[in-house]
Amino acid sequence: MKTVHTIQDVRNQVRQWRQESLTVGLVPTMGNLHAGHMSLVKTAKQHSDKVVVSVFVNPTQFGPNEDFDTYPRTLEQDADLLTQHDADLLFAPSVAEMYPQETFTWVDVEHLGDRLCGAKRPGHFRGVTTVVSKLLHIAMPDHAYFGEKDYQQLAVLRRMVEDQLFATAVIGVPTERDASGLALSSRNGYLSEADKEQALTIYRTLTQARQAIEAGERDYAELCQQSTERLEQAGLTVDYFEIVDANTLAPAQKNTAALRILTAAFLGTTRLIDNVGTIFVDI
Ligand code: PAJ
Repeated sequence: MKTVHTIQDVRNQVRQWRQESLTVGLVPTMGNLHAGHMSLVKTAKQHSDKVVVSVFVNPTQFGPNEDFDTYPRTLEQDADLLTQHDADLLFAPSVAEMYPQETFTWVDVEHLGDRLCGAKRPGHFRGVTTVVSKLLHIAMPDHAYFGEKDYQQLAVLRRMVEDQLFATAVIGVPTERDASGLALSSRNGYLSEADKEQALTIYRTLTQARQAIEAGERDYAELCQQSTERLEQAGLTVDYFEIVDANTLAPAQKNTAALRILTAAFLGTTRLIDNVGTIFVDI
């Protein structure tokens, strides 16, 4: 696997692959790679002839009081893991390479990015869509892979690609969990073993809510209320717990056919997100 740091080097490599009629997949990441990221790489290897992985801690998607400075940067380890998983190209640009001048042009997906995590993290999705738009312009991949772990991000990016007519298909990849059910995340590194035990309540509560819906529960507001209480009792501070339309992310109504259950909660200062579904209900 080759590691490059400039846009030009990515373009040169991709141009060569295209001349050989090879398809290209892109896996955008912020590094500190784990088995969750690797499931995206494995899926990409199945669909695309060549796989580009970007590692870039994107400053524009972090709020002023968020963890941009302390976000783990482990490029050497990341490169080793990617080599083991047969990635073809690692693109690790500097901030100056991705943002050479003050940004006047932003990519912003209205509505979908305003709710849930977007309401709590103003400007976050605008940063994500702007950087992913740049990465798509740089690598011009046939496919781009994103995890269902960040379900709202996936929905926002799908919409961006549709609205902006990118020549890239967005592929969603199911959430990778550890044996206990905890969704793998770079931010789990901030948690002690005891915290991780506490964090497990998130997946358990989501699963319980899913089972209740599957058993016929349709009072979604009540279910969200109970689930929030359960999480708070376990010592978590809930940002939101919502049952939404899996496609539009609007709050689920009685006649919503495909449901997703999403939550974000703080464990101390660490913000964790998770979601389950999609649940198809008879309406
Ligand atoms: P990052 O948090 O590094 O995640 C990169 C990709 O890995 C995302 O698509 C995310 O959904 C996926 N991912 C993370 N944990 C996962 C898990 N446990 N199972 C499956 N997929 C998982 O998300 C970002 O970076 C950034 O916002 C980015 C899209 C790179 C833009 O900067």
